[in-house]
Formats: sequence, structure tokens, C-alpha cells
Amino acid sequence: MSPQSDDRVRAVIWREDALELLDQRLLPGELRYRRLSGAAEVAQAIREMVVRGAPAIGIAAAYGVVLAARACRARDPERWRALVADDLALLAAARPTAVNLFWALRRMERVMREPVADPLARLLDEARAIHREDIAANRRMGQLGAALLKERGAVITHCNAGALATGGHGTALGVIREAYAAGLIERVYADETRPWLQGARLTAWELVQDGIPVTLLADGAAAALLRRGGIRWAIVGADRIAANGDVANKIGTYHLALAARYHGVRFMVVAPTSTVDLSLANGSAIPIEQRAAEELLELGGQRVAAVGAEVWNPSFDVTPAAWVDALVTERGVVLAPDTVKMAELMAD
Ligand code: MRU
Repeated sequence: MSPQSDDRVRAVIWREDALELLDQRLLPGELRYRRLSGAAEVAQAIREMVVRGAPAIGIAAAYGVVLAARACRARDPERWRALVADDLALLAAARPTAVNLFWALRRMERVMREPVADPLARLLDEARAIHREDIAANRRMGQLGAALLKERGAVITHCNAGALATGGHGTALGVIREAYAAGLIERVYADETRPWLQGARLTAWELVQDGIPVTLLADGAAAALLRRGGIRWAIVGADRIAANGDVANKIGTYHLALAARYHGVRFMVVAPTSTVDLSLANGSAIPIEQRAAEELLELGGQRVAAVGAEVWNPSFDVTPAAWVDALVTERGVVLAPDTVKMAELMAD
């Protein structure tokens, strides 16, 4: 693996006067960046999944605050901080589950209150720091997670927790990249991840570009694959981790964890501490995004489901901490996470 493999593609790019987001809805067919110059556009891009993946959403929102602050200060140099509040609310309402969004907005809000000579420059510095720190966290987690894979074998992943979902390199895919480079992975099985197909469109695309052997499977085939044997670890990312270690991630993760538990396959969650939400005692309090019925009723814009069928379309599910063998963060690895270990991890 080239050390620059995560730099082959960047989901979020800051230009001096605008934010560029790779439109992930078009991948892998088309590589097109959208140029956004206002916070409302950034909120819309998050809502509509131009950018997705918990850390990437947080990073995009942080740059969105920079754009908001610039516009509001130009409008009213005295009251601009009060005006930015509307944009903050808009960004916060974009998607509910990934806590990195709220974590990044809180960090930007704190900076906005600092009494500095050039608050706009300070805000941009902070957004850049959030972006930079995420890539550094991914690199660290890559090493820590790869060290857990003691023997060569195959792994399975769900959704896309790669460079596209983060500032670069990826969380689960960061571990997979490092472990592959160390000769510990012979093949990656990627769930296609219905209904948005992040596995088929994004994860498979990232892995093919890195020359890492990838086999795609329907989500419903995962249990049969694990039963067949040969899969050493299931490795996934997270959108929010509660104080007891319960993990919200893309719908289907719970299913995979259940099958992994049953078949004795170890389950690894890779996420930066910006994904941890100690304010929620357990996963039952994590808000789960419900998405549009059309995502299931249609395929490629064509109606496929029976007319009259109703839809339940949660975008995330919660895997109990008890089924997580290892939580890998940039601060270290927590084996079999629970409330005490999570509190220790998050202590300053
Ligand atoms: O709906 P998405 O594509 O934003 O969901 C993304 C996931 O569930 C990822 O697994 C998670 O954000 C971790 S990304 C490093």
C-alpha cells in the first residue's frame, strides 16, 4: 500500500472561498465535486448524502460554520455571532444520528466565543484542525486495529468507513489498509449495504483502487459467509457510541454482529473519540434517522415495490456493547467495552 493511498480521493476539500464536496451519490460512475459557498448549501449536501459518513459530516459542518461566519460578519460586523446561530441550527438539523456533527458544531461554537483579533481566521484554523486531527486519528487507529489481527485471513466490513467517510484514510478501512499492507488480510468481504449501496459503490471502489482484493455480497448473505468459516474479523465504523459502549452504525451492522457472535467471528468497531457520546447512558437513547420510503420502493428511480406496501427505513441500528470484542479509538483500544472502560477512555 502506498502511504498516500488515502490521498487518492478526498471527500472534503477546503478552497479559500468555498467548500468542495465529492458528490458520493454519483460514485463510482462519476467523480464530481460540488462547490458550496454557504452554510445552507452545506446543510443540504449533508442531508442529501452528497457527503456522508460520521467524521466527514462533522468536518463538512465545521467548514460550513466558517462560510456562515464570513457571510454573517459581512452583513453585520457587530451582531454576526447572533446571526450565525440560525446557520448552526440548520447544520445541526441536517442528520440526527452521527454525533460527530454536533461535536464539530460545539467545537466551532466555542471558538466563536473566543475574544481574538481575527475570529474568521481562528474559525478556519479550527475547522482545518478538526480535519487534520481526523486524518491523524485514522492513521493511529489503523495501526492499533491492525495489531489486533494476529493471523492472516479474510475480514468482512459493512457500509463505507473509508477515506470517503472521513477526512482521509478511513476508520474501518484505515485498519484494513494497514493490515493488508502488513500481510494480515488476504481478502475483504464487503456487504453491499442496502439501500444506499455504500458497500458496493464506495467501499468496493476504494479497495479496488488500492489493489486490495474485495468480494461483494448481499447484506443477507453475510451470515452464510460467516458460517462457512475463514472470516477472522468483522470490522466496522460507528456513527455514535453511547456511554456503555453500545454502537450505532449503518443499518445491517446489528445483523452482522449477531451473526458474528453466533459463529465466533470477532467484531471490531473503529471510531475516533469524537464519535463517543457520554451523555447517553446506552444505545436505546441514540436518535435513529428514518429515511424516505422511496429508498426502498424504488431502484434507480424506477418503482419496484408493490403499490400499497408501507415502508420502515431506519438508516442505522444499535449493536450492544456486549457483542463488541474491540473498540479501536485514537486514544487506544478498549476490549469488551463497558461503562467503566468507556469513562476511563474518555477521561482527560
Ligand atoms: O448513512 P451514511 O452513509 O452516512 O452512514 C455511514 C456509516 O454508517 C458509517 O459506517 C459510519 O459513519 C462510520 S464512517 C467512518
